[in-house]
Amino acid sequence: MVQATPFLLVLFLALGAHGLSVKKCSLTGRWVNDLGSNMTIGTVNGNGDFAGVYHTAVSATSNEIKVSPLQGSLQKSPNQKGQPTFGFTVNWSFSDSITVFTGQCFVDDDGKEVLKTMWLLRSRVESIKSDWNATMVGINVFTRLQSQE
Ligand code: BTN
Repeated sequence: MVQATPFLLVLFLALGAHGLSVKKCSLTGRWVNDLGSNMTIGTVNGNGDFAGVYHTAVSATSNEIKVSPLQGSLQKSPNQKGQPTFGFTVNWSFSDSITVFTGQCFVDDDGKEVLKTMWLLRSRVESIKSDWNATMVGINVFTRLQSQE
């Protein structure tokens, strides 16, 4: 028991130091994706809820693009290990459509945060007969926009 104490102490310190050095991925801030779209996410509250704004670079419509609100939710379970899963909805302010994104916030091998997402874009169609082609699916990868300090 006496010999085990220093070993356990070293193990505890090593694990603790490792835990402190592992960078966590945070959703809050400004992001750009592979299409050139920008989004800004505000603070994530204690329940994992967050809000933000989305400025898409592209549209399935010919409408003038406007900045649109988003609302989302971050998975807060203890198993997330600093790389949490999340989802958010963009309610387009210039079209009849809605997009839902789901993804995970990763820290890559260079220590950079990256959001790997998939999305469903639901367009409004005139009748149920057109429902079959009302939804598009795709992926987007977001990287953090560096703040100008
Ligand atoms: C619309 O066309 O009705 C609204 C804009 C949709 C933009 C889509 S959402 C998925 C993809 N990722 C983006 O950043 N923009 C497009």
